[in-house]
Amino acid sequence: TRPLLISPSILAADFSRLGEEVRDVVDAGAEWVHLDVMDGHFVPNISFGPAVIKALRPHTKAIFDCHLMIAPADPYLAAFADAGCDIITVHAEAGPHLHRSLQTIRALGKKAGVSLNPATPLSVIEHVMDDLDLILIMSVNPGFGGQKYIPAMTDKIAKAHALIGNRPIDLEVDGGVTAENAAEIARAGANALVAGSAIFKGKGVDDYRKTVDTLRKAAEG
Ligand code: DX5
Ligand code: ZN
Repeated sequence: TRPLLISPSILAADFSRLGEEVRDVVDAGAEWVHLDVMDGHFVPNISFGPAVIKALRPHTKAIFDCHLMIAPADPYLAAFADAGCDIITVHAEAGPHLHRSLQTIRALGKKAGVSLNPATPLSVIEHVMDDLDLILIMSVNPGFGGQKYIPAMTDKIAKAHALIGNRPIDLEVDGGVTAENAAEIARAGANALVAGSAIFKGKGVDDYRKTVDTLRKAAEG
């Protein structure tokens, strides 16, 4: 089994002090930093793009886990690689050429991820399993933080885990993750947990550390 990773989504952080927020969550024990990029087209909200990520890069050595909720994604992959993203995740629904997108990300020297909306079946990734490094199961409809976890996604996580088998692929869950459901999500086979509002409802590094620890303890059972 792969190590448990906590990936705080800075979508819920204080945007006026993002550099400090990133340093604080990493000091609080988070392994990854989850970067939610939204275009107002693939999802009904706009967040930030490569320039903001580039500005954050000098603030930490932690893995930048970039979740692209943009369509098309391919024309921007190089910009996100240049900005310092370590993992670049595209949505399977965002374009007709998922295999090409994944190949492009790997050719840029980055880890390639694919994200699936709640209604999208796992079968869309069946034939690209050897071309990806991460599967991101959306447990809310993407676009906004602070939504409720969709319970039917636990079964989808378990099925994704079975599909992965012994391949070196991280299984990440994003949306409505809390200390209350982290155990169920991890038991189904997820090893990377995104949490936005659960972490950033606290204020500052001590609060963040408490939540990161609680999520990890719950997930590690
Ligand atoms: C939703 C984003 C998530 C979101 C998670 O579109 O992809 O990363 O910010 O936020 P919470 O943890 O509040 O559901
Ligand atoms: Zn996300």
